[in-house]
Amino acid sequence: MNKVLAIANQKGGVGKTTTAVNLAASLAATKRNVLLIDLDPQGNATTASGIKTEEPNTLCEPFFNNTDPEDCIYTSPDGYKIIPGSQDLIALDVAIRDNNKQKYLSKVLAKVGNSFDYTIIDTPPTLNQLTIEALMAASGTLIPLQCEYYSLEGVTGLMQTIQTISDNNLSQNRVLGIIRTMVDLRNNLAKDVSNELENHFPSLVFNTLIPRNIKLAEAPSHNQSGVKYMPSSYGAKAYLALAGELIRKIENV
Ligand SMILES: Nc1ncnc2c1ncn2[C@@H]1O[C@H](COP(=O)(O)OP(=O)(O)OP(=O)(O)O)[C@@H](O)[C@H]1O
Ligand SMILES: [Mg+2]
Repeated sequence: MNKVLAIANQKGGVGKTTTAVNLAASLAATKRNVLLIDLDPQGNATTASGIKTEEPNTLCEPFFNNTDPEDCIYTSPDGYKIIPGSQDLIALDVAIRDNNKQKYLSKVLAKVGNSFDYTIIDTPPTLNQLTIEALMAASGTLIPLQCEYYSLEGVTGLMQTIQTISDNNLSQNRVLGIIRTMVDLRNNLAKDVSNELENHFPSLVFNTLIPRNIKLAEAPSHNQSGVKYMPSSYGAKAYLALAGELIRKIENV
C-alpha cells in the first residue's frame, strides 16, 4: 500500500526539501518504489532531483488541461520518480481554492499512486492551499525542525490544522514524527532545545538526528540528493538511518 507522507513546517529554511529529497533517495536505496511530489513553486526538490527537462509538466497540466497525471511523472537519476514543481503551482494554489476543487491531489494519487510504496510530498513554507492539499492527501506528516529558540512556534498551529482536517473526516492524516535537522550539538542552545523536544514529544521525535553537514548543502548544486552525491558523508548516513527508523515505525518490521 502506498504510504503518503507530507513534509511540512510553515517556517522557511528548516530542511523540508533536504529531508524530502534525501528520504526519497534513501527509501529508493532500500528498493522501495518512491514517488516524490514537489508542491513548492520554488521547485527546489525538482532541481535537487536532477530533473533537467526545461519547463517539465507539473500538477497544473492535469488540472487545467485535463491531461493524464502519468504525464507529469519523471524519473530522477537517484532512483525515485518525481512530479516536478515550478512557479506554475502558484496558479494552481489559487485555482484549487477559487474553483472549490479541494482534494485535487488526493484524486491524482488515487489514479497514479498505487504502484508506489511511498509518496513523499515536499510543501512550501506557508499553510496555503497547496500545503492543505498535501495534508489532506497524506496519511502521515513529518515535521522537520531546527533546534532553535523559535522552532516550536508555528508547529502547534500546524498540528492543530492536521487535527482539524482529520476531525472533519477530510483525511486520516496524523503527525508521524518530528525530525531534528541541521543539528550541531556543540551549540548549547541546540542541545537544550533538542532535549526539550524529547521531553515534550517523547513518542514523536525521531531518534535519528540530522547533523549540519556541508555535503547536504552542496548536493543540490550538483542536481543530486546528498545520499547520491556523497553516500559516505555524515549527512547522507543520517538520512539513510532516518529512512530505516521510518520503515520500522510504519511498516512494523
Ligand atoms: N543538515 C543540513 N546541513 C547543512 N545544510 C543544510 C542541511 N539541511 C538543509 N541545509 C541547507 O539549508 C538550506 C535550507 O534547507 P531546505 O531548502 O531543505 O529547507 P526548506 O525548509 O525546504 O526551505 P523552504 O522553506 O524555503 O522550502 C538549504 O540551503 C540547504 O541546503
Ligand atoms: Mg523547501
